[in-house]
Amino acid sequence: MRYQYLFPFDQVDKGSRIIIYGAGTVGLEFLDQITRLNYCNCAFIADRAYQDFLPIEGVEVCAPEQIKNSEYDKIVVATTKFHSEINELLREMGVAADKIIIKVVEAEDKTSKARDKVFKSPPMTRRLVNAIHRISPHLDFSVDEKSRTEWEWDQNAACWNEYECLRDTLEAFQKPMRILEIGPGLGRSLVFFSKKLGWQDCDIHVYDSDGDSTKYTMNGPRFDDSFCSDISELRRVLAYNNIENVQIHDAKSIALKDVPGPFDLVYGFYNVGYHWSLEYFLDDVLKLMGDKGVAIFTVPNSFKPFPGLQRIPYRTLEKSRADYRKEMLLVLGPAS
Ligand SMILES: C[S@@+](CC[C@H](N)C(=O)[O-])C[C@H]1O[C@@H](n2cnc3c(N)ncnc32)[C@H](O)[C@@H]1O
Repeated sequence: MRYQYLFPFDQVDKGSRIIIYGAGTVGLEFLDQITRLNYCNCAFIADRAYQDFLPIEGVEVCAPEQIKNSEYDKIVVATTKFHSEINELLREMGVAADKIIIKVVEAEDKTSKARDKVFKSPPMTRRLVNAIHRISPHLDFSVDEKSRTEWEWDQNAACWNEYECLRDTLEAFQKPMRILEIGPGLGRSLVFFSKKLGWQDCDIHVYDSDGDSTKYTMNGPRFDDSFCSDISELRRVLAYNNIENVQIHDAKSIALKDVPGPFDLVYGFYNVGYHWSLEYFLDDVLKLMGDKGVAIFTVPNSFKPFPGLQRIPYRTLEKSRADYRKEMLLVLGPAS
């Protein structure tokens, strides 16, 4: 879904109970974003013209006066106009100033205008829809063009955030180089970086496997039986984007540490270091990096350095997700 307005994720805590004020385009977009991400609960939508509305996605549209008898953490004003009038009205109803959020952020600059669509989705098939759902359980698409556009948007948004954060680090590499991506899933980052950074002449390897058992923890111990990719769909996505120089290593046939390194760049997004703490993969990763390599992994915002990290220089870079929640990228090396 391409949104015109972004829900103020930075001002509303996850899991809180809110009231959206305004059932127009902004309100609908806000409701859609929090529902898809299961971010917080909307008790109801307040709107003067409440009599004109049926429930929206199961949420009632009620008269603003209902706010007086309700429990909520925040009221999120979802209009682009009349902010001072609405603020005054809410204050007259006895709503505390720190419970009112009036900040409507236009999403357009961050999506369609300033950021082009680098990753292209092939036509949806039932198999691709299933593979996407296994990798990203919150994405439940259909075999249609709308889903294809939404997936493309989602994948490009994630890649743009990573790219903007890593651009300086990645552009410093001398090409051609040897690259290993761990857990590429359906290949969004590889496609994106290859096109943006001219990796066509590089020797690129990926390590992943088919599977349907996801054991996603948050920074937990290592699982070597949590593969959820679909290698033939990965091949299809890469071919559709004209990425040809990739050697795929199936984790069912080779251990991570035995992938033929060393590599100048080893990276993995939302797998090693994120679902499973890097601590348990560090020996393998250091072997794959050799003396001069750099490794980069997504780590959660709560990331804490662990003792083994003393063996190699590292730094963290802060980045935001498409929904503006914070995350980090951990950059390791080079060792010498
Ligand atoms: C959440 S997906 C992330 C996919 C992709 N990197 C992205 O950001 O869209 C996690 C990926 O890690 C892979 N994976 C699971 N266990 C792994 C392991 N032990 N080593 C390497 N990759 C693993 C999964 O098969 C899946 O492709």
